[in-house]
Amino acid sequence: MRVAMIGTGYVGLVTGACLADFGHVVTCVDKDPAKIEGLLAGRMPIYEPGLEDLVARNVREKRLSFTTELAPAVRDAAVVFLAVGTPSRRGDGHADLSYVYGAVREIAAAVEGFTVVVTKSTVPVGTGDEVERLIREVRPDADVRVVSNPEFLREGAAIEDFKRPDRIVVGTEDERAKEVMAEVYRPLHLNQGPLLFTARRTSELIKYAANAFLATKVTFINEIADLCEKAGANVQEVARGIGLDNRIGSKFLHAGPGFGGSCFPKDTLALLRTGQEHGVPLRIVEAVVGVNDARKAAMARRVIAALDGNIAGKTVALLGLAFKPNTDDMRDSPSIPIVLALQDKGAKVRAYDPQAMEEAHKVLSDVGYRSSAYDCLDGADVAVIVTEWDEFRALDLERVKNLLTQPVIVDLRNIYRLEDMKRHGFRYESIGREGTAP
Ligand SMILES: NC(=O)c1ccc[n+]([C@@H]2O[C@H](COP(=O)([O-])OP(=O)(O)OC[C@H]3O[C@@H](n4cnc5c(N)ncnc54)[C@H](O)[C@@H]3O)[C@@H](O)[C@H]2O)c1
Repeated sequence: MRVAMIGTGYVGLVTGACLADFGHVVTCVDKDPAKIEGLLAGRMPIYEPGLEDLVARNVREKRLSFTTELAPAVRDAAVVFLAVGTPSRRGDGHADLSYVYGAVREIAAAVEGFTVVVTKSTVPVGTGDEVERLIREVRPDADVRVVSNPEFLREGAAIEDFKRPDRIVVGTEDERAKEVMAEVYRPLHLNQGPLLFTARRTSELIKYAANAFLATKVTFINEIADLCEKAGANVQEVARGIGLDNRIGSKFLHAGPGFGGSCFPKDTLALLRTGQEHGVPLRIVEAVVGVNDARKAAMARRVIAALDGNIAGKTVALLGLAFKPNTDDMRDSPSIPIVLALQDKGAKVRAYDPQAMEEAHKVLSDVGYRSSAYDCLDGADVAVIVTEWDEFRALDLERVKNLLTQPVIVDLRNIYRLEDMKRHGFRYESIGREGTAP
């Protein structure tokens, strides 16, 4: 089956490469010439484990190609996926659909023959109707079906998630489009990936409801962590104690600095706007957004408190900048408000991240980037663990202690055991657990 992927970002590139790996012939289109030039030369625009090999293999097998030319790719395709960005619109938090509609106009002008246009971008409920209307406006003669097929992959585990999804949601009531989508996903279906057909609007809303629910879980355990700190309980044990209950589940119950990334912050905001437009208050999601914003803003205060309020002129070593491990994505990362607040209070900030320093450089200034965790810690006054990369999980604690001017660690991801930190004589502040003083 010939597939055109419009937008070759995290989702478009992973989806395109995985569909090619299933045997489809995929053309990935992007309007960013530098991105396409890099891909043609074998350079990945993002860090994602396993992606480079997957892309190289499918390019070699001639099932995957890259171009900036949308029209020929669309003309030849039976299925056109939309995977362009839908960021928060400045000012009101509504999903900015200008990239979607821009691409749809171009697609409409180019389609030939029966074509299924699939919205993989996360878009507010009802967008599929508008996409369909636009296509009819540009090309009243076009034989097109518009389908919603939201993506649930997680950055850092994207290929595995795409190839072994919990479910594939397809929003269409058109029989012919259903057949085409079943064919696109046949290899996954054979792997028992359940294909869930719904009405298009339902499918669009499933994506936002899923993200809002997961964001709620994270925010819930973060508030319980605050209570644990005051009440002398341990949030990791509380999370385990509740997570073993099947009705609750153990995932997304890790207390930390607040959620960030390219999806939860913008999707929770967009869902609130949708609620307002329909006159339906979504008070739980509203609270989640407010609590999470306040939490991210408060994390720098923990660092300042660990130095007894004396932060001006001190050197802070940040371990991790990406919003989570195994990605270089810095969008809405909790590290950003932490760095800004510490700099605002007169601290000197340096940082090390295994993958995200190039991206971080674009959004943070006056940060001293270091080439390893130990290099970053050398001569710093406090270490702050912001992202739980595996390589930070087993640091040589004696060496860390010798490198720091004073043995102070603020661990926003709870990756060390309190006993170990106590034994090594650290002042150790983590989330939702008692601190240790040397
Ligand atoms: N990143 C994730 O983990 C994730 C997970 C699930 C869903 N999503 C959703 O998928 C969508 C894409 O997200 P992303 O993170 O891949 O975005 P991204 O910003 O990484 O990529 C979007 C790409 O689309 C390109 N583009 C924009 N307009 C175009 C046009 N007219 N023609 C061709 N290319 C065009 C941009 O140049 C960019 O490379 C969003 O709606 C997002 O919410 C993302």
